[in-house]
Amino acid sequence: MLISKEQPIGVFDSGFGGLTVARALIDLLPSEHVVYVGDTGRYPYGPRPASEIRNFSNEIVSYLVEQHGVKMVVVACNTASSFALEDLRDRFDVPIVGVIEPGLRAALRATKNHSVGVIGTVGTIASGAYQHSAAALDREATVHCYACPGFVEFVERGEFDSDQVHVLAERLLGPLVSAKVDTLLLGCTHYPFLARTIADVMGRDVLLISSAEETAFDVKAVLETTGAANPSPDRGVHHFLSSGDAGWFAEMGGRLLGPELAHAEHVHFGA
Ligand code: DGL
Repeated sequence: MLISKEQPIGVFDSGFGGLTVARALIDLLPSEHVVYVGDTGRYPYGPRPASEIRNFSNEIVSYLVEQHGVKMVVVACNTASSFALEDLRDRFDVPIVGVIEPGLRAALRATKNHSVGVIGTVGTIASGAYQHSAAALDREATVHCYACPGFVEFVERGEFDSDQVHVLAERLLGPLVSAKVDTLLLGCTHYPFLARTIADVMGRDVLLISSAEETAFDVKAVLETTGAANPSPDRGVHHFLSSGDAGWFAEMGGRLLGPELAHAEHVHFGA
């Protein structure tokens, strides 16, 4: 397949959370064109069966490759990375970068007491993806993985530090406080929006890590090794699509990502 350096990078998530990764990508690689798909018509992915998440991911990547000619794809969703990454890599010729390994690598590098926490959706944690990657990357550290059902729904409603989210965080994060982790990986792309609440509950000494920046560094490395980085001195074009209400996506997404997201288009997937 012929890849031109001017082709965009495709990024997708079940909704708004992957905008944390898009933000990091735009900041690190300002001349790259980006096409972002938020599958808000079918979110949340967290509680869905693996086969469904694989089908959704496959459909979105086909769309990005066929309709937008993307030169690579970033799976900016931990749940989709957990269940679909290998399958996508087998099916498509373009490089596919996920968020599991980059985040975990950063957390394992940062921990001083070798006790790391990972929080994610029910699907991500139940898939065992973080547990398997941790065993492969570092046998010395103990990685405590916990699901945080309910966090995503608060973020999608734009509710980041209410009393209710605080109460839920105290209940869900209690075991990690007891385990005395010194580093906590936010293993769901939505969770960085709850960072203040999570930091309040975990305590100031616990380092919170978001996979967004590390994933952007992985993308940069792939572009450099494949010779596909866009050499243009101009700023890239950023295109946002939502399978749900595009007006709401632009309004809410703009608050989360910043001025690059002033407009979103609707895209229809599946049934
Ligand atoms: N974006 C998903 C993730 O990172 C969370 C939201 C969802 O459940 O769809 O796991």
